[in-house]
Amino acid sequence: MLSKEMEKSLNEQIAMEGYASYLYLSMASWCEKQTLTGCAAFMFRQSEEERQHMLRIFHYINDVGEHAITPAISKPPHKWSSIQGLFEEVYTHEKNVSASIDRLVAQSYDEKDHQTLAFLQWYVEEQREEEVLMRTILDRIRLIGDGPQSLYYIDKEVSAINQKQVAAEGAEGKQ
Ligand code: FEO
Repeated sequence: MLSKEMEKSLNEQIAMEGYASYLYLSMASWCEKQTLTGCAAFMFRQSEEERQHMLRIFHYINDVGEHAITPAISKPPHKWSSIQGLFEEVYTHEKNVSASIDRLVAQSYDEKDHQTLAFLQWYVEEQREEEVLMRTILDRIRLIGDGPQSLYYIDKEVSAINQKQVAAEGAEGKQ
C-alpha cells in the first residue's frame, strides 16, 4: 500500500521515464539521419532502457495494490544543431531525473515508507551510472572536437562505448 501522495509521485516518475524513452528515440532517429550509426545504436538502446525504467515503476505500483497510470507523453524535439548539443541535452535530462529520484527518496523517508525506499535504491545506483556514462561521452567529444572532420571519430567512440554497455548488460542479465 502507498500513500496517495506517493502513488501520485511515482506515477509522475513513470511519465518522466516515458518522456526520456521518447526523447532518446527521437535522438536516435536524428543520429541515424546524420549517418551517425554508432550514436543512433547508443540512443536506441538508451530509449529501450528508459522504457524498462518506466515499466519497473509501473509493476511496483500495481504490485503494492495501487494503480499505475499510462502517461500522456509530449512530443520531444526532433532536431539538434550538433552531436555535442544532443549529448549535453541528454546529460541535463539525466541530472533532472536524478534530482527527481532524490525527491522520491526524501519523500519515502518522510513517509517512513521503507518498501518504496528499498525499491528506489536501484534507481539511485542506475542514475549514478547514467550520469557517469553521459559525462564520459561529453568529455570524449570535447577531446575529439565537434567539427565535421571529428564526427567519424565521435561515432566510432560512442559505438565502442555502446558495445561495452551491451556486453555489461548481457553479463548482468539486465534488460
Ligand atoms: Fe531512467 Fe535515465 O533515467
